[in-house]
Amino acid sequence: MISKKTIDEIMLATKIEEVVGDFIPLKRAGKDWVGLCPFHDDKDPSLHVSPRLGIFKCFVCDSAGNAVHFLMEHEKISYPDALRYLANKYHIDIEEDKKELSPEEQAIQTEREGLLGVNAYAEKFFIEQMNETEDGRNIGLSYFKERGFQEATIKKFKLGYCPDGWDTFTKAALDNGYKLEYLLTTGLTKQSEKGKTYDFYRGRVIFPIHNAAGKTVGFGGRILAKNKSDKVAKYFNSPENPIYHKSDILYGFFFARKAIRTKDNVYLVEGYTDVISMAESGVENVVASSGTALTSGQIRLIASQTKNITVLYDGDNAGIKASLRGINLLLEAGLNVKTVLLPDGEDPDSFAKSHRDSELVDYLEKNATDFIRFKAHILLQGADDPIKKGAVIDEIIETIALVKDEVTQTFYVRECAEMFNVPEELLMTKLRKIVWKKLNTGKSSAGGNGPANAPEAAGPQQQIPEITRPQKIPSSFKPEANTIEAIELNVVKLILKYGMYEIHIESIGQDGNSIFTPTRIDQYIFNEFLSEEIRFHNPLYQAFYDEYAKIAERSQTQEELIHSFVEHENKAIQNLTIPILMDTNPEYSKIWEQRYDVLTRSTDNNIERLNAEVETVINIFKLRLVEEQKTRLHKELEENHPVEIQRAIVQRYIELDQLRKQIADLVRTVITK
Ligand code: CTP
Ligand code: MN
Repeated sequence: MISKKTIDEIMLATKIEEVVGDFIPLKRAGKDWVGLCPFHDDKDPSLHVSPRLGIFKCFVCDSAGNAVHFLMEHEKISYPDALRYLANKYHIDIEEDKKELSPEEQAIQTEREGLLGVNAYAEKFFIEQMNETEDGRNIGLSYFKERGFQEATIKKFKLGYCPDGWDTFTKAALDNGYKLEYLLTTGLTKQSEKGKTYDFYRGRVIFPIHNAAGKTVGFGGRILAKNKSDKVAKYFNSPENPIYHKSDILYGFFFARKAIRTKDNVYLVEGYTDVISMAESGVENVVASSGTALTSGQIRLIASQTKNITVLYDGDNAGIKASLRGINLLLEAGLNVKTVLLPDGEDPDSFAKSHRDSELVDYLEKNATDFIRFKAHILLQGADDPIKKGAVIDEIIETIALVKDEVTQTFYVRECAEMFNVPEELLMTKLRKIVWKKLNTGKSSAGGNGPANAPEAAGPQQQIPEITRPQKIPSSFKPEANTIEAIELNVVKLILKYGMYEIHIESIGQDGNSIFTPTRIDQYIFNEFLSEEIRFHNPLYQAFYDEYAKIAERSQTQEELIHSFVEHENKAIQNLTIPILMDTNPEYSKIWEQRYDVLTRSTDNNIERLNAEVETVINIFKLRLVEEQKTRLHKELEENHPVEIQRAIVQRYIELDQLRKQIADLVRTVITK
């Protein structure tokens, strides 16, 4: 554990612009520095680095934080590793608080370090053996070359060769002081019943497996073609151990991470050689599940980098049907799933080899099919009678129900209706039933914005909710968060982050038709507030609101406006706005991103949704205000007032109640009392 004192020293010495500048070219912009954001596919420099605040912030993808956060995110390293990196950079001696680790924790840490040490040594040893011994070159290196791998690729993936002796590696490792215990735990060395030790991977070519931080955590060893027999497995892999959890590893992830981010897509293949061949053909955003079904740990890894995944299937893969289920997990995780079916007899490895560079990319892009269409196609094979077809439709609708985005869901339903030539309405009803069922059983999958957040008062006799229109209260309005404070804060957040964005306000023209007027969100809110004489309860929010009007007037862009707030001279306002802009609360940030960032960033169909979301925020706010007034009037009624006043209060109460119903209708909340 790094001591508090050391952490303070490190933070004091750290210059954010130098840290970020080591990875990204930065240009001066006033007090700040700007550069291309590494966390999304950035075209114009949108990453701002503020030496004064010691923070970076991307105004497009919203990533933000201090130097430590930057390193953790950019290099995918842990908090202590980021601190160590900085200590090293700024020549600060690290003082460790040893006593904070219990003896067991220390033992675990020592073991982890020991195991990683052994693996690092082994990786180096296998590389040397392959390049610097005659057998290594003749057997190992030539195998890779025959498969068409170039020097640079072999180096990049740190491929190697384990000599065919009995225990060449084990001996060398022991001679170099590595503990037998660790050699056995990592699986590099095996022990016979008689206690004789031998190299597990002897006579095999080696594919080291790296974790997200690039540490070597395991190995795959492939048998050479000439030794191949059906009795021995083609690959030997590391056993589960404290540093190798197969279910959390994606082969190639460490090398692919940057490309995944810049392409905002990842290709998923099965095997080691698929990854390597594709990378060599210029498709670097590729990872392998290593021949097993995807796990939630692997999906989390993917989702940390991109929302888009393209799954590659071999042309003659008999196992496609079985693997379809695993793909459902991707949809449940909110990812956009596409598939590419390779031509007959091809796997990614062979196909990448015969289709270099742009040819491969072209093929993948042209043949990417959305998962729903692909699944329907696969399931329909051989399902020619109506009953089987019906079952296929049901299964497809089940899958569509997993899709998180409602617009996409509607799109899929339409597509499915066309594919099967059935009425869209029918499928919509099926879909609603499924969603409704899940809602009632409370069986919502991961993520906070599922239908489970609908108001609890919805009883079984209630209408089935419509999927196509915004019928949910945004999950930021959970009952416990449904205080006036929380609701007001949402308005603050909305204008601070998106005030200058435009929505389309509907009004009825003289001819009775709808007119849609583009209106800035902040203006819309100002008008609403003005006409209803609304003020914030929270004085700080009101101060922010007053200040906003001034700043918005002199700002050209949302960025400029935000910047004025981040650097605002009023500390209280700064303390209110920076956390919102820096989204330190991951849960909140996720919701906000889903609700707004995605809407404002993507192009199609979303203006309508943004409109709806803004109106919901405002209406919920108004609803709260009305409710408050009602409560106040209720108290008044209990006082002894003259009859006329009493009557006026009742009258006002009734009006408010009607207003409340109207607004509640608008936000589609269910009125319980
Ligand atoms: N695999 C394994 N053990 C085996 C076979 C396969 O662990 N006996 C895993 C490996 O991670 C392998 C992946 O499943 O990379 C895909 O299997 P396969 O397509 O058979 O292997 P390839 O990597 O394509 O190897 P090659 O092209 O050399 O046959
Ligand atoms: Mn293969």
